[in-house]
Amino acid sequence: MKKIYFAGGCFWGVQHFFDGVDGVSATRCGYANGRPGPAPTYEEVYTDNTGFAETVEVSYDPQRISLEALADLFFCIIDPLSVNRQGHDEGTRYRTGVYFSDDAEREILAPVFASREKLSGAPLAVELEPLRNFFPAEERHQAYLEKNPGGYCHLSPRTFTYLRLYQDLSNLLGDEPDMVARMSETAPLIAERLHFLWTGFYRVAGEELVLGPFAGPVACLRIGFGKGVCGTAWKERRTIVVPDVEKFPGHIACSSLSRSEIVVPLIIGGEVVAVLDIDSAYEDSFDSTDAVWLGKIAALVVISG
Ligand code: SME
Repeated sequence: MKKIYFAGGCFWGVQHFFDGVDGVSATRCGYANGRPGPAPTYEEVYTDNTGFAETVEVSYDPQRISLEALADLFFCIIDPLSVNRQGHDEGTRYRTGVYFSDDAEREILAPVFASREKLSGAPLAVELEPLRNFFPAEERHQAYLEKNPGGYCHLSPRTFTYLRLYQDLSNLLGDEPDMVARMSETAPLIAERLHFLWTGFYRVAGEELVLGPFAGPVACLRIGFGKGVCGTAWKERRTIVVPDVEKFPGHIACSSLSRSEIVVPLIIGGEVVAVLDIDSAYEDSFDSTDAVWLGKIAALVVISG
């Protein structure tokens, strides 16, 4: 069993998240990298004068999950550019960081940080430092969200649904090499867990997108390059969130029930090979949580595809 320490804002939500990660055997909320002992109280840390960061100690089985995979999941639940603030929580105690006890772990983590920085296009505000000290938090802070269902959590509730979905999908897809089979498994699973109006794929075929596996009402068969939300995501090679489809110039209304939409490109070797398109019957259904996790799902679908 190995241990790694994640500071990702309010530790209640961060602990709840890592409790749901397959391969994690135990978690503890605590205070890390502050002034030397004795152990601080929550109230002392709350003053922001102790230097401690709210931190979760994650014990994991390296045979089941790698340190890279854990760090990658951690980056899905933080805003890595935000300084001393995550969600509504502000202060140095809510700074972000990964703290390790063995220098070999820095070697593993540094490339994860480097690729995240490249993606962000700006210097990360996330610390990568040796663990100087860690004091477990008071019992009332442990498993807080299990003890207080519906209690305060700075993470979007959908985060936890996406985590389970991502892990289940990863197990289901395994090393299946056929990308259409991978898409066919993915679309209904997303639909089943998140109940959107339409969830499916369009594949690049020459100058057009052609309908692929989907769950939901009948849809348009073909979409041109640069046309609609799907064709624009293909052309611009980026995820597009449309809060109100009526305000997106050129939106293609396959279903009159669609009110908002997200389209995520599937990319292999820099080329868009397909898009994942999700429609909702409600306005403003998608935010950065959806963009992050659907991006991760899109990358999972193309693996070995
Ligand atoms: N609305 C999409 C077309 C596909 S359907 O939503 C399934 C678009 O504008 O690209």
